[in-house]
Amino acid sequence: MRLDKFFSESSVLSRSECKKAVKKGEITVNGETVKNADLKIDENKDEIAYKGEKITYSRYTYIMLNKPSGVVSATEDGRDKTVIDLLPENYRNRGLFPCGRLDKDTLGLIILTNDGISAHNALSPKKHFEKTYYFKTADGFSDGDAKKIEGGLLLADGYTTKPCRIERISDREGNIILTEGKYHEIKRLFAAVGNKIVYLERIKFGDIALGDLPRGDWRTLSDEETAAFIDKNRR
Ligand code: URA
Repeated sequence: MRLDKFFSESSVLSRSECKKAVKKGEITVNGETVKNADLKIDENKDEIAYKGEKITYSRYTYIMLNKPSGVVSATEDGRDKTVIDLLPENYRNRGLFPCGRLDKDTLGLIILTNDGISAHNALSPKKHFEKTYYFKTADGFSDGDAKKIEGGLLLADGYTTKPCRIERISDREGNIILTEGKYHEIKRLFAAVGNKIVYLERIKFGDIALGDLPRGDWRTLSDEETAAFIDKNRR
């Protein structure tokens, strides 16, 4: 593989940045300063360093983003701002897409990747990736309402939801943990018991937590978070 491709696929430097870094003598391969950005390297054997720091090759990009309200979970939209629009330019042409959808007025954790297999896997109800949402309701909900929702409810379109869990915080707020993601699922579950969701924020996706990432901000997943997200057969 070419050195500049190695850097751009690993999301460290774009091809033109790699060229500039080579000119400045900032890149070494097996300890030797590189003279050409088109040098052929073996990404599995050679030790590549940028400014003295070892770079590990990764073909895919994994990002977490804290979606604000009013932004759509799509790659393109004629009218609204998309989650991709919130990324800097050098991340917008990598074929990234949101892993699952949040409604336009839902906030919080969304994972963006170009690893289709792992994204598909993470969304499959069979793989039991739990998605945790913090919610507020218009009216107080009873333990009976929570039990009904937890057990799975028949929705107006004839679909019966899979069992889920609710952790109550107060009579109008809590966390709901789902292993599936049907269209407007949480809003429809609460509507089915005569209530209304007035605030919804995803705070966890599997073991990956939003933490204190500011609203509208993004970051790449840590190695540990990436390992938690990727399909085990992919490694
Ligand atoms: N359930 C909803 O109703 N909306 C979301 O955005 C996610 C889950």
